[in-house]
Amino acid sequence: MCGVIGATGAQDPLEIILEGLHRLEYRGYDSAGVALVEGDRLWRVREADGTRSVAALEVLARGAPAGSRTGIGHTRWATHGRPSPENAHPHFDCTGGLALVHNGIIENHAELSAGLVERGHTLASETDSEVLVHLLEEELDQGLVEAVRRCLPRLRGSFSVAVVHAGEPELIVGARRATPLVLGVADGEGLVASDIPALLGRTRRLFALADDEVAEVRPGEVRVTTVEGRVVEPTALTVEWDLEAAQKAGCDDFMSKEMGEQPKAVADTLLDRRKADGTLVLDELRLRVEELAAVDKVVIVACGSSYHAALVAKYALEHWTRLPTEVDIASEFRYRDPVLDGRTLAVGVSQSGETLDTLQALREAKRQGAKAMVVSNVVDSSMAREADGVLYTRAGPEIGVASTKCHLAQIVALELLALTLAQHRGTRGRPEVTELFERLSELPGKVAETLGRRKEVDQVADALAGARDFFFLGRHVGFPVALEGALKLKEISYLRAEGYPAGELKHGPIALIEPGTVVVAVATRNPLWEKMLSNVEEVRSRGATVVLVADDGDEETARRADHVLWVPPVEPLLSPVVNVVPLQLLAYRLARALGHDVDRPRNLAKTVTVE
Ligand code: M6R
Repeated sequence: MCGVIGATGAQDPLEIILEGLHRLEYRGYDSAGVALVEGDRLWRVREADGTRSVAALEVLARGAPAGSRTGIGHTRWATHGRPSPENAHPHFDCTGGLALVHNGIIENHAELSAGLVERGHTLASETDSEVLVHLLEEELDQGLVEAVRRCLPRLRGSFSVAVVHAGEPELIVGARRATPLVLGVADGEGLVASDIPALLGRTRRLFALADDEVAEVRPGEVRVTTVEGRVVEPTALTVEWDLEAAQKAGCDDFMSKEMGEQPKAVADTLLDRRKADGTLVLDELRLRVEELAAVDKVVIVACGSSYHAALVAKYALEHWTRLPTEVDIASEFRYRDPVLDGRTLAVGVSQSGETLDTLQALREAKRQGAKAMVVSNVVDSSMAREADGVLYTRAGPEIGVASTKCHLAQIVALELLALTLAQHRGTRGRPEVTELFERLSELPGKVAETLGRRKEVDQVADALAGARDFFFLGRHVGFPVALEGALKLKEISYLRAEGYPAGELKHGPIALIEPGTVVVAVATRNPLWEKMLSNVEEVRSRGATVVLVADDGDEETARRADHVLWVPPVEPLLSPVVNVVPLQLLAYRLARALGHDVDRPRNLAKTVTVE
């Protein structure tokens, strides 16, 4: 996740910026940079040395000009354009007199950049961010503040930005939409940052900027106005957190913070994917339309939660595209002598893009001539570099070992891929693709609504305290949700938890059901709902404690349950994105009640680069 910082009025702004960048490192980043205003010029250094970039900047900064009073800095988590010094922020305009740092995604960057190039600008990076600094360059006649006001309405997407101008050396202009920006005032210093931890060492006089407001940050003062120029009082922030609590945004742990970020992870993954005429475009995919249309089989390989996301995708792919779709655990696939050819699309799904088994499985697919693509959360990961195409989930870095926001973003990315294939193959018409994209776009709101029911889930978890054996059941797309619910619970609570397709119960597992066993079943409405209820009756009559995930208001389902986890109804093929959320919350509460460290569960690593 990118981090923004700026300081003006300080004796040594560079020191404040570098310290702030260190404090933002916990968010994960791949490159970093700083720009200082030096007289009537700007000085800049940028590094793309992965998580060593800030340390590397410190070395480069020894050559910084003395006497600068103003500067901005940035840690970048790549989304548009690979990690490289050219793509690292701050970005300059054509004159080199303006510098900008940006966090978020400018959704209409392609259209804006086409216009800029036509008007003679040279864009030096592959990023979406750079367009804004060139737009500002065109509007500077009445100064930087007015330029920012004029440009904001032209942007779509999410952003928090800080900009400096060599012609106005004691000014930083900040603005935001849907991504936070915090302002700070210290003795003779004006500060700005994307996150509170970056400023905590400097001041506790902090203020929040609201959407589409513009902040003028000067030595010892901040002034906030609307886009129209009306002065507004910024909201003062009371911060009682220490640094560690601030890095977790006041949450008890990263898992909790990351579950809370799921609506944004889903929304960001959907940003920028549909053209004005309704066509879906997956820019970074690098596979030509003809190549996609020629595919006659899809093979997906993954591990853990990524495998569960892939299983959800199988239902969507087969239904929407009519392409035969196989989903394999990567460690099995690579040794089972799979049959692939040039018309096979092999998809690796991996949050990290580094999991060795998935990487080797992709290599095997390529060796057999298949087109290989990856769904990854890390730009320029090993898999992204080796695959023929890539589709990025934009969940931001995930620090908790148990995957939450990346899992949801993976499902959404794979469903986007399925819809795009359906469009190119002509198996779904434009109106249906449009309708389904609209339903996908509603998911962030529904995930947020579900997260808002955390207290109710906690009550169910508390009622289950002491239980040792859990079964998770589902049918159709509810089956991978059950697998994911069981995985989350076993990973962080160390309780025995198995996920099964409910129809398989009678073929063995039902022998294990006895009084005291907890059965959690996904029983939202879909074509197999009635069959699911029959399976629920089977375990109820054997004494299991039944917890059902049910659609809001569905009393017919609820009366079969000891406890209900209510969710807003969602189109069945998209429902896993919402239905898995109460299962994450349930696992989290049960694990915390047992006193476990949910961020670092025993025996597990975040990225598994060994067999
Ligand atoms: O980075 P990847 O998505 O390739 O990782 C795959 C699994 O190791 C990962 O999903 C693991 O199962 C998580 N701990 C699940 O919470």
